[in-house]
Amino acid sequence: MGLQHKDDSDDDLRRSKKQKCNIDMEYDDYSDDDDDESSPVGMVNDGFLMRLGEFFNPMIPTSIVVSDAMEPDFPIIYVNKVFESATGYRADEVLGRNCRFLQYRDPRAQRRHPLVDPVCVSEIRRCLNEGIDFQGELLNFRKDGTPMVNRLRLAPIHDDDGVVTLIIGIQVFTETKIDLNSVSYPVFKETCKNQSEQAVGKYSPNSGQMKYIECQEICGILQLSDEVMAQNILSRLTPRDVASIGSVCRRIRQLTKNEHVRKMVCQNAWGREVTGALEHMTNKLGWGRLARELTTLEAVCWKKLRVGGAVEPSRCNFSACAAGNRLVLFGGEGVNMQPMDDTFVLNLDAVKPEWRQVSVKSAPPGRWGHTLSCLNGSWLVVFGGCGKQGLLNDVFVLDLDAKQPTWIEVFGGGPPPPRSWHSSCTIEGSKLVVSGGCTDAGVLLNDTFLLDLTMEKPTWREIPTSRVPPSRLGHSLSVYGRTKILMYGGLANSVVTCG
Ligand SMILES: Cc1cc2nc3c(=O)[nH]c(=O)nc-3n(C[C@H](O)[C@H](O)[C@H](O)COP(=O)(O)O)c2cc1C
Repeated sequence: MGLQHKDDSDDDLRRSKKQKCNIDMEYDDYSDDDDDESSPVGMVNDGFLMRLGEFFNPMIPTSIVVSDAMEPDFPIIYVNKVFESATGYRADEVLGRNCRFLQYRDPRAQRRHPLVDPVCVSEIRRCLNEGIDFQGELLNFRKDGTPMVNRLRLAPIHDDDGVVTLIIGIQVFTETKIDLNSVSYPVFKETCKNQSEQAVGKYSPNSGQMKYIECQEICGILQLSDEVMAQNILSRLTPRDVASIGSVCRRIRQLTKNEHVRKMVCQNAWGREVTGALEHMTNKLGWGRLARELTTLEAVCWKKLRVGGAVEPSRCNFSACAAGNRLVLFGGEGVNMQPMDDTFVLNLDAVKPEWRQVSVKSAPPGRWGHTLSCLNGSWLVVFGGCGKQGLLNDVFVLDLDAKQPTWIEVFGGGPPPPRSWHSSCTIEGSKLVVSGGCTDAGVLLNDTFLLDLTMEKPTWREIPTSRVPPSRLGHSLSVYGRTKILMYGGLANSVVTCG
């Protein structure tokens, strides 16, 4: 810690202390000139008195604090008068508290002052946890906010069984002239280590002054090690958040560039299976770029794909959807408004993708203006549309991966009114949602129905909504965030009669 002492003797020693907390200090032999008769020093053994002697300077009034090591958080059970006058706190104000309040500039402050070296504080914590001596110096504050350097020694006192029962703290406070307003604390160790090394170089033995190096970042989180920050924080963020947190500072930016962190972020966002499948693309792009392109869709562009086979006979008003990397197409309107009932698949994973008609055991009645949605990756569900006999509200399901694919009708009690040009989607992989469309009479609909196909006896249920979107046909329904449905576009005022 680069602090400027009024007492500037033993400069070299101090300079070395800037770099580490545990320093061996040599002082004159102990001489008990403490005016406080109730000093607890008598409570402790001779070995401790000798150890204290190493720390005392008879010329400097020494403040003493005793904390109970048997109670949680080391509450103070004793302070001597020197402590009271040096810190401005009366004994009755501090008894029962942990001594860390000296690291807060204001008695009501919630956090230690940013100039209090966290490395030193964690070293104190370590020594207390391990029941060993601590010696070092750190910035403390008087009750009135005046900064002072505290050359602190903590010594554990053991009982006969070796259990630490008390901690004796000895403080030597010296005034310090640091500009608390203009200095901000360094906070992450990597940067500060370099900077404190530079600071040592700027130490002037003549003036005894340590030039304080300014670090710009003030943020508690930056005190964490790279490893903790990357593994425990950054890797849990979403790709989008990782991208934006990189603008906080150079160090975080550097950490977010780590391919391992980026891969973990992608894995958390998309799951292992997806990231596994994308792995081969990262050789060229890297995980960061890949995540960006997938999140922002910035690289998306239409590419003409030449495929083999054909959907014959040609048609319009069919319905198609993706089942994984397969594109499935069902029905449509052939020549002379002929409703079609055939199923085609285009496997985009194939080396040479081509349209193939699926040979099904039985097919739903031919139709157009219906919807086709995918369930759980390989199941297709057809709903409604316009058939030979008029509008439909039936449901058929097909397992594309079955040995002998068969369209099976699902009877869900109380189906929605028959319709065409409606829209549908599936939520949670298994619930079919149908909305809007057009009735036989050409009336546009604004209702939303749900059919849970995981139920033994699926039953249609109308989803009540507090705000109903305008009636429409030819719109789209998409699912995002697991159960949220986005309705987009369509035709709101139909002049066309359907059916
Ligand atoms: C007996 C005793 C005396 C202490 N004296 C001081 C002190 O004068 N100044 C200070 O900043 N910390 C002092 N400490 C350290 C703090 O109380 C605390 O242990 C340290 O801040 C690390 O813990 P923390 O990270 O939970 O705050 C003392 C601790 C003990 C046990």
